[in-house]
Amino acid sequence: TVAECRRCRLCETRRNTVFGEGDTRARLMFFGEGPGADEDMQGRPFVGRAGELLTRMINAMQFQRSEVYIANTVKCRPPGNRNPEPDETEACRAYARRQIELLSPKVIVVLGAVPFRFLFPNVYGGIRSQRGKWMEYRGIRVMPTYHPAYLLRTPEAKADVWKDLQEVMAVFGR
Ligand code: URA
Repeated sequence: TVAECRRCRLCETRRNTVFGEGDTRARLMFFGEGPGADEDMQGRPFVGRAGELLTRMINAMQFQRSEVYIANTVKCRPPGNRNPEPDETEACRAYARRQIELLSPKVIVVLGAVPFRFLFPNVYGGIRSQRGKWMEYRGIRVMPTYHPAYLLRTPEAKADVWKDLQEVMAVFGR
């Protein structure tokens, strides 16, 4: 369904849809923003520079990338890597909602402001004030943290993210 989607304008400029990948029985999910140029080319999430860092973060948590599930708020690349517009995230909402429902993970790690706002439109405060605080989305535990692309620009924030990831590791006894 997603591969043929034409619900918003992003379908006009995408090369590939990027549905998500990983173990469909995963207990741990990472939820990002949307595909960039590399992801659009390959049809896979988090395969560029931010993706390399995400893979290292997953490994530091004592998981393999193939053991978790990785998906994004929007399934098509916003041109020029701009943030997705609200009507685009809304057009994609049913896909992400169903994807989370089908996977039904124990924990979702939310990567950055866009997916945070998407899952928690009514929460006061942004990712800077809310990161590191456990939240709940439809009965699933959620840990909001910074996006790996932000960490590439702001390495000082890595210590905060590591704290957040350790909270998640504790849930899995790692
Ligand atoms: N950034 C994201 O949020 N998602 C990707 O898939 C790649 C980069």
